[in-house]
Amino acid sequence: MVHRAATIPHLAPEGRTTLTPTHRAFIVPPDRPTIITIDGPAGTGKSSVSRELASRIGLDFLDTGAMYRAAAAIVIDYGIDQTDDEAIVAKVASADLHFDWTADPPTMLAWDTPIDHRIRDADVTAIVSPLAGIGRLREHMVRKQRIIANQHPRLVSEGRDQGSIVFPDADVKFYLDADARVRAGRRADQLRADGRPADEAALLADILERDRSDSTRTDGPLVCPEGAVVIDTSHLTREQVVQRLEDEVRVRIAL
Ligand code: DC
Repeated sequence: MVHRAATIPHLAPEGRTTLTPTHRAFIVPPDRPTIITIDGPAGTGKSSVSRELASRIGLDFLDTGAMYRAAAAIVIDYGIDQTDDEAIVAKVASADLHFDWTADPPTMLAWDTPIDHRIRDADVTAIVSPLAGIGRLREHMVRKQRIIANQHPRLVSEGRDQGSIVFPDADVKFYLDADARVRAGRRADQLRADGRPADEAALLADILERDRSDSTRTDGPLVCPEGAVVIDTSHLTREQVVQRLEDEVRVRIAL
């Protein structure tokens, strides 16, 4: 899902910082195309900190995982054979996955119909990692993501291959990591907060399997991109991670 950056009224418009009662904020100059990539495994808090960073510094936010999830939902809902790569790519391509940027947050569309409500369901989550290993599907997604970046050239783009494959010339690249046990614990906390049961041992096994599957595939594997700033979020709060990202962007984007 793509989120348009929220308007932040207290921010100076021209890449400067202003003092607020709570923190000193930074915004990328409005006329400056800027791509920031954030990659890393599941459970590092990537999505929420990426979204928050984009909002703070005045960029749009692209959640590329949502695109792979949309593909998985299409495969299930249209009864496509999960072993038939050609049929999968053809069906997903026909959906013309894109975003309605007039909504806030923007809505993900397949065949011009919103699909957001479906993409976090358990059956989708169960098949998305193997599906994301299909080379031709990845090529299709990479093309789509670059088109989005052309249309929205001020972007924080989050995923697994954004700094390594999709935007190797990004202005700033990040790789977020965290201890697998910490990631499993965070997932368990989320589930419990939703009133659902959580088996931490099973969650840990699931996370380790997803890490293995995402990092060993041939096409677009999860890797730490060359030149990326690596942040271990194991012992950091969400606010600390966002602040660290913002500080790195501030010093790396010469004003
Ligand atoms: O970040 P997420 O959990 O929403 O991602 C869903 C799946 O998509 C996950 O298995 C990794 C995969 N993915 C990918 O292979 N490449 C991306 N750029 C983004 C996500």
